[in-house]
Amino acid sequence: MESDIQAIANCIKNGKATRIVVLTGAGISTGAGIPDFRSPDTGLYDKLAPLRLPHPEAVFHINYFSHTPEPFYAIARARHPGNLKPTLTHAFLALLAKKNLLHFLFTQNIDGLEQDAGVPKEKLLYTHGNWKSQHCYKCKSHYPDDLMNKAIRAGEVPYCLENGCGGAIKPDIVFFGQPLPAEFEEKEKEVLEADLMLVMGTSLRVAPCSRLPRLVNRGVPRVLINNERAGDLGNRDEDVCLLGTCDDVVRRLAGAVGWADELEDLWQE
Ligand code: OAD
Repeated sequence: MESDIQAIANCIKNGKATRIVVLTGAGISTGAGIPDFRSPDTGLYDKLAPLRLPHPEAVFHINYFSHTPEPFYAIARARHPGNLKPTLTHAFLALLAKKNLLHFLFTQNIDGLEQDAGVPKEKLLYTHGNWKSQHCYKCKSHYPDDLMNKAIRAGEVPYCLENGCGGAIKPDIVFFGQPLPAEFEEKEKEVLEADLMLVMGTSLRVAPCSRLPRLVNRGVPRVLINNERAGDLGNRDEDVCLLGTCDDVVRRLAGAVGWADELEDLWQE
């Protein structure tokens, strides 16, 4: 693996990679204490039996939520970022942006840790939304942050306060069965401009994000940094699979580029 890491580091050092597009998933935040979805035993979907769902993903399906919001609020606290600290991997993404090498970042995560780490808002799309606001599912009126936080802490469904509405409140995250943010299609084009793609901490099991790596031009390296293989990464000659935990691989990659101290400093800030 070291020679693969060195090869990618060289692309960055010698200026071959200056428009890096990144796709991230839950695996970059497990180090911050938020379990991923599909890892056996530790992932959320293996722990939902007590909620008696028709299938694990129902907890995030809009049709199910519309009549049974309780399971979502039963697990919401464990996924809410609260005061969590970004991981070294989030800091690495911020460092790429600082060095003007981050062309665009697509994150499937809703925890907002990319921005907390310092990735500028304009370089980032929360493809599945984020936790920053919430509305009534029925009448669409805004619901206050403090009451939402209270409900999440208590594991209780918050209900709309508007006159006689009483609809369940839903955070502005994308549930299965809901459209992605309108910018997604437009931002997809950024992938065509990539001269390096990093795919980090995702099983690539959920469309349409799962198709982003396939849009990368032939000949452009696609690098998977993940505990396991994912999607079609590894099928092209130019692909590189760096299997391991994100923080460990990223630390070694940063070291090979010559950024070890800078990365640690940025992370500790
Ligand atoms: P998954 O749980 O499907 O995949 C996480 C991937 O990260 C797995 O391949 C793990 O092996 C890997 N992983 C976990 N911890 C890691 C670590 N520290 N270092 C390296 N790899 C690690 O999560 P996503 O791919 O993000 O959507 O899931 C995509 C979407 O499915 C989510 O956004 C969510 C979910 O249902 C909605 O709810 C709409």
